[in-house]
Amino acid sequence: MEISNSVKYLGVNDHNIDLFEGQYIVENGMAYNSYVILDDKIAVLDTVDADFTQEWLQNLQKQLDSRKPDYLIVQHMEPDHSAGIVDFMEMYKDAVIVASASAFNMMKQFFGKDFADRRMLIKDSDTLSLGEHLLTFVSAPMVHWPEVMVTYESTENILFSADAFGKFGALDVEEDWACEARRYYIGIVGKYGMQVQNLLKKASALTIKTICPLHGPVLNKDLDYYINLYQIWSSYRVETEGVFIAYTSVYGHTKEAAELLAKRLNELGCPKVAIADLAREDMAECVEDAFRYGKLVLATTTYNADIFPFMKEFLHHLMEHNYQNRTVAFIENGSWAPVAAKNMKALLETCKNLTFTQNEVHIKSALNEESMAQLEELACELCVEYHS
Ligand code: FEO
Repeated sequence: MEISNSVKYLGVNDHNIDLFEGQYIVENGMAYNSYVILDDKIAVLDTVDADFTQEWLQNLQKQLDSRKPDYLIVQHMEPDHSAGIVDFMEMYKDAVIVASASAFNMMKQFFGKDFADRRMLIKDSDTLSLGEHLLTFVSAPMVHWPEVMVTYESTENILFSADAFGKFGALDVEEDWACEARRYYIGIVGKYGMQVQNLLKKASALTIKTICPLHGPVLNKDLDYYINLYQIWSSYRVETEGVFIAYTSVYGHTKEAAELLAKRLNELGCPKVAIADLAREDMAECVEDAFRYGKLVLATTTYNADIFPFMKEFLHHLMEHNYQNRTVAFIENGSWAPVAAKNMKALLETCKNLTFTQNEVHIKSALNEESMAQLEELACELCVEYHS
């Protein structure tokens, strides 16, 4: 893949991975991106995952045309991008690593050495000229680790954005950007919305024609579309008007209530209704949907005098990722001593700016006339603004 006459893609596709970062299902694999800028000086931006170091070095060699790289720019030390550093430095003895102080500290931790005699220590706003190309380094702490920096190239207006604007999925599989970029963003960076906002503020002062992330495709068209989504996600705003119903069900009675509610919401004109069984569907996808839609209905049973395990796990994911600014409703089922609704609410009360619906649904074992009426009231309350 050629980004321009001088900027080339060196990345690799990983279809062997079972779980990205040890937890995320990636059905379409993963891409680890890396780039080289060929100028009077040659700079390589980031390495790739350990399993692909040799393939990446070969990709680099093909682009070098018997020249040697001068710099290895390390934007992020997470091993999916940094695992090739030692091999690169052994292969190219005259190259220098360009990185932040905290990145060099992490090199010491990961590799037992910090390349003290072969390094260029940089901080926010420092620049590096390669000839025609001028790089400016912009620190982006916690997008996604504290040492992260992104790199702006001002001749071709390219932002090398590290993990920002990345997505799950290898590059040899075609798929919609937003779905897997959203799941990636909410899962991996979602907690740090304010830090992403800070980066977007810095980026807004730059002319950007191309975004080169460390995962997912290079973006060079409709950049406003991607930046707008990042603005929404990082400010915890609603992306899609509608209701997401997240449920667990032991014998099907809570599922029946969740599905009945979904049907009524559709009948009442709710613009979008999504529903998921937390025990059977991808948890990261469910967390993503909770952040995507304006309203969330949580339906679960009381279990061991608390919340059913998959729902409890889901709520912890939401809290951990700074869930906020949404409307939340509760459906509980309990054959005796029900506490699920009360306990779910108590957990979510620690989140910022949540509105709990007036109506709740309390099922005793199975839906009956009383709980059906509560369900109808809840459906009407959730749809009230869609009628006007
Ligand atoms: Fe793709 Fe935070 O590493």
